[in-house]
Amino acid sequence: MIIMLNPRHVTASAPGKTILFGEHAVVYGKPAIAAAVDRRAYVSIRKREDLRTHVNVEELGVSGFLNLDKGSIEIEKGENNRKGILKYVLRALRKINAEDGLEVTINIDIPIGAGLGSSAAVTVATIQAAAVFNDIKLTRDEISKLAHQVELEVQGAASPIDTTLSTHGGIIYLSRDAEETITLDIDSEIPIVIGYTSKRGNTGKLVESVRLKMETHPQVMIPLFNSMEALTNGAREALTNGDHEMIGEFMNINHGLLDAIGVNTQELSKMVFEARKTGALGSKLTGAGGGGSIIAYCPGKIQEVVNCINEFENAFKVNISREGVRLE
Ligand code: PMV
Repeated sequence: MIIMLNPRHVTASAPGKTILFGEHAVVYGKPAIAAAVDRRAYVSIRKREDLRTHVNVEELGVSGFLNLDKGSIEIEKGENNRKGILKYVLRALRKINAEDGLEVTINIDIPIGAGLGSSAAVTVATIQAAAVFNDIKLTRDEISKLAHQVELEVQGAASPIDTTLSTHGGIIYLSRDAEETITLDIDSEIPIVIGYTSKRGNTGKLVESVRLKMETHPQVMIPLFNSMEALTNGAREALTNGDHEMIGEFMNINHGLLDAIGVNTQELSKMVFEARKTGALGSKLTGAGGGGSIIAYCPGKIQEVVNCINEFENAFKVNISREGVRLE
């Protein structure tokens, strides 16, 4: 006779992401390159004795009860601007028709609100954990699609970049109009440092501010997006060939163009220029901007750049995560 000593328990994890090239341009049908990073969100699900569903997001200090049947949330604790994460968990669980009576514990080892895709990572890991818990088999493409639907429902708008990378891992080239995602086969390590400020950027507002500029000065903005497209395509080649100087140069040009469309900030610029002064071959803001994070390309200078940025903001080295969502 087999005695089950532990109650059934499933943990899944999924990585965050960083955009290497092409953010904002991707909203106008241009290509982008993004990579999954080795910082993950972990979601554990086990059965509760009662029929309530409770979620605890440790790093955010947020917890609450979800009613999966009715689709409602009752906050137990958490600051107003942090409890939004429960909406992703609720929608993710409902996507696979999970039933109430779950204890969900979430740990996020990804800086939150820094454009590193923590909400997508939580969504993807929740879908995978809940699917396995309920004996449902989903392909990666199905997980990615469901997670993107959750992001659209919660945020109103979202490109599939975050959910694709959290699900599949690796480095992807998102083609024109996001019709196709091509995994880039890059063997060599990509020496990247991420710097982030505690000041958050609001993706929705920044995308809207760029849209207004596009409406007002299309003749100025269109060539900027065309340049971003050209540099993203050049960077794809440079990454594939391991051409460090070229990768760095394209990052610097991309940063200048992001500044031109109005999404840079003084804090981001300080990190970008200090990183270059300390030996990064290139650096740029990453994601929506207006706060959030930068990436610096630092062959042979990783620790120096981390130390330099850590003196006035926060920085860490990231490795590209080849692995997407997985069971722990
Ligand atoms: O900062 P993030 O990770 O939310 O990135 C936003 C990227 C944009 O291109 C500005 C918007 C998008 O949906 O692609």
